[in-house]
Amino acid sequence: MSLYAHITGWGMAVPEQILTNEDLARQVDTSDEWIQSRTGIRERRIANGDETTATLAVEASLRALQVANLDPMDLDLIIVSTSSPEYIFPATACLVQDRLGAGKAGAFDLLAACTGFIYALNIGTQAIRSGAVKNALIIGAETLSRLVDWKDRNTCILFGDGAGAFVLQASPERGGVISAVMRSDGSGGDLLILPGGCSRMPATYETVASGKHYIQMNGREVFRFATRVMAQATEEAVRKAELTIKDIQLVIPHQANQRIIEAALRSLDIPMEQCMINLDRYGNTSTASIPIATCEAIQQGRLKAGDTVVFVGFGAGLTWGAAVAVWSGPQAAVRRMLPLRLRMYARLRSWIRRFLRRIDAMIWGRHNPPI
Ligand code: UT7
Repeated sequence: MSLYAHITGWGMAVPEQILTNEDLARQVDTSDEWIQSRTGIRERRIANGDETTATLAVEASLRALQVANLDPMDLDLIIVSTSSPEYIFPATACLVQDRLGAGKAGAFDLLAACTGFIYALNIGTQAIRSGAVKNALIIGAETLSRLVDWKDRNTCILFGDGAGAFVLQASPERGGVISAVMRSDGSGGDLLILPGGCSRMPATYETVASGKHYIQMNGREVFRFATRVMAQATEEAVRKAELTIKDIQLVIPHQANQRIIEAALRSLDIPMEQCMINLDRYGNTSTASIPIATCEAIQQGRLKAGDTVVFVGFGAGLTWGAAVAVWSGPQAAVRRMLPLRLRMYARLRSWIRRFLRRIDAMIWGRHNPPI
């Protein structure tokens, strides 16, 4: 029996704190006029001290699980796509797994920069289609504001924080994610890079003093690359789905720059009305931008059950990709998923597990328990 991966839940979370172009113009040599005309961005959301990649991911996930009416205990797989994980390890996905109380899920992080959500969507879909996984939670979450040099006007005007999540569920009914393409070209790795802090350049006084722990970008080169690959990836994914561009009701692109999106749509001959854009209010939230834009497209009634939608993105790596989905909507469910109860249950579960681990250590001390 063929299985399909249907998108049955979606959710987003963005920080409350807004940083406008005018605010930025007080910090660096820029202007609202320059930022709007070159990027389309008016403002972005910035995480406060208590908000992290995992807290935003958990909020978006709870909303997605609520839409899907799915208990986290029924999740088999959690993928967090992020370029701003809480740590190198443990994976942010494991923190999310614990805070959701998803006791039966495998969890890992995926790093494909702004293309990450497309990659995660495809990996989750393939896991479902193979029969190995029934329910998957795919999250794109970022707090890039913590990795941006707020004195560098080339980058600090672009990025914002946020998270978005999809629930994928197996069903024999044809639909859901029907094709995807994933591409990469590491020869362009230096065009968008955070060089410091890992094995190649461990943190030292010098790396910190010279700003190696901030995002560095060759904007013009990334711009040229992006306008080329967005259209290519879309065409390829549509062809793979055995459809034509005319069959597409909505394009949800990575929200990096209005001019990049316009150029891509022009070369695809798709009118702008068929494209979801919300970068004016959130800036570039990297891998979170596609699921956040999807949630808002649904809120605005622009994406309905049965519609064929293309997700397309590009980013550091270099990476790019696209996916075609027939929009499903939530499956009929028998019970209510209550986020507050779930949150309390997950906290208690996590506390008990830590407590038992401590007791275990006290009993066995330096000895291994008998096998
Ligand atoms: O998710 C992927 C992430 N990255 C991207 O998507 C980046 C893609 N690239 C872009 O979006 C654009 O290249 C930028 C928005 C970053 C820059 O726009 P641009 O039209 O390519 O500008 P530019 O880099 O060619 O710079 C034009 C001028 C330069 O001055 P000169 O050399 O002509 O005197 C810059 O120094 O604008 C200057 N400039 C600024 N001026 C005011 C660069 N940044 C700013 C700024 N405010 N924030």
